[in-house]
Amino acid sequence: MPPLPIRNPDVKYTQAFINNEYVNCVSGKTFPTINPTTKQKIADVQEGDKADVDKAVDAAKAAFKIGSAWRRMDASKRGALLMKLADLIDRDMGYIGSLETIDNGKPYKNACGDIGFAVDILRYYAGWADKITGKTIPINGDYFCYTRHEPVGICGQIVPWNYPFMLFILKLAPALASGCVSILKPAEQTPLTALYAGALIKEAGFPPGVVGIIPGYGPTAGAAITNHPDINKVSFTGSTEVGQLIQQASGMSNLKRTSLELGGKSPNIVFGDVDLDAAVAWSHAAVMENMGQCCVAGTRTFVHESIYDEFVKKSAAMASNRIVGDPFDEKTQNGPQIDDVQFEKILELIESGKKEGAKVECGGEKMGDKGYYIQPTVFSNVQDNMRIAKEEIFGPVQQILKFSDEDEVIERANNTQYGLGAAVFTNDINRALKFANSLQAGSVWINCNLAITPQAPFGGFKMSGIGREYSEYGLQEYLEVKNVVIKIPQKNS
Ligand code: NAI
Ligand code: MG
Repeated sequence: MPPLPIRNPDVKYTQAFINNEYVNCVSGKTFPTINPTTKQKIADVQEGDKADVDKAVDAAKAAFKIGSAWRRMDASKRGALLMKLADLIDRDMGYIGSLETIDNGKPYKNACGDIGFAVDILRYYAGWADKITGKTIPINGDYFCYTRHEPVGICGQIVPWNYPFMLFILKLAPALASGCVSILKPAEQTPLTALYAGALIKEAGFPPGVVGIIPGYGPTAGAAITNHPDINKVSFTGSTEVGQLIQQASGMSNLKRTSLELGGKSPNIVFGDVDLDAAVAWSHAAVMENMGQCCVAGTRTFVHESIYDEFVKKSAAMASNRIVGDPFDEKTQNGPQIDDVQFEKILELIESGKKEGAKVECGGEKMGDKGYYIQPTVFSNVQDNMRIAKEEIFGPVQQILKFSDEDEVIERANNTQYGLGAAVFTNDINRALKFANSLQAGSVWINCNLAITPQAPFGGFKMSGIGREYSEYGLQEYLEVKNVVIKIPQKNS
């Protein structure tokens, strides 16, 4: 059970966090953050830009200097600080969850779920801090050879708005566990919970400059991070288009290491040999969770012709019954979309589906005028070449496509620029293995979906990204391998 919510949480911090202090931005400019449930402004937040990123980089350089408190700290102590941060977040879950709910619009119980997951991620990486080891290598000649896995340095970490706090921690935890320092930019739509985290980072006891948090917009503050000559690595979650810009800026500035977690159009394939109600429920959740604002949402539901009509009927019933409303009401399953831009984009894509001849089985419209609410929508009769089958909608919109043959559906599932996730529902073990081997995706789920945990890797094939997050693989993104060779003198030589 989540703690009791606070319907009108005080906004404690709206300034940038540099050197363990909250400070105004150099330009003095601010931007509003909006509650998508009411379209009302919550607060004005300091708008960071290049000058503020420069200040945060100076602080980060001092914190990462050879001989600094952070560089000399025992790895086990780094782990203990991460553990402490996890405890503080757990302590404040009700407040952080409430703040997330007003800033993002997601149901409060889901916000608390995200925060609990962030705590799990921190504790997982806290355990890694003193277990990062190199190798000793028996090279040719009279030498002693070993490798050190060293922190890559100053990291720039750019976060989107769909899981604001959880993704902030997912970026931070492996960076700090490996001994890096970090400058993070939360999304302009949802800066509040990340800014609050600054106070907890200070309370946990991290030295000044280890973490900087710069609120602001992408083309200004974000671009200042990706172009900065003294930032060694960029980690980004967001759209594929911006991911390409970041890769380019990273290459042209100083060849920053990049990890990118981008868009998706994940297939969710259902055969006729499964428990139909369970498959309908999993497939529904795979696209409706978080109002469809999930990079790995299973938005292309491929259903075998033998069960197609029944599957469509049950999916439409489930979507019509989904409870949309006040995010603080514990029965609510869907809140509003994040902002007017996403709201209009989703409605335009729904219209394109109608025009191109897909059938609306339920939903298909906006709801009321108060917030950015959209009805959970199910399309049947979807064809592969329709825009709704190709483009990332990022809304509560399910596309149900029909298939008849295994090889056909593998080819259709892979026929996309994306490759983030894929799910298959079947009770035939041979078929499950064939699909696990054949689907081009960073995660393949059999008889489940969205099973994401701190211990296992997550990331994209193709244009869904570069690199992996979570797990030991995610840690390696923050480490450079250094090879050391020492001559061993031989007697009489
Ligand atoms: P976006 O990619 O523009 O924003 C994500 C983050 O990148 C934000 O912090 C933003 O300020 C920053 N950013 C934007 N331009 C930048 C630049 N030139 N340099 C550095 N940082 C920059 O995503 P947006 O516009 O909010 O959403 C557009 C679409 O992206 C969505 O409809 C969805 O399809 C996809 N998306 C995917 C996400 C994922 O989890 N993979 C998360 C959010 C959006
Ligand atoms: Mg907001």
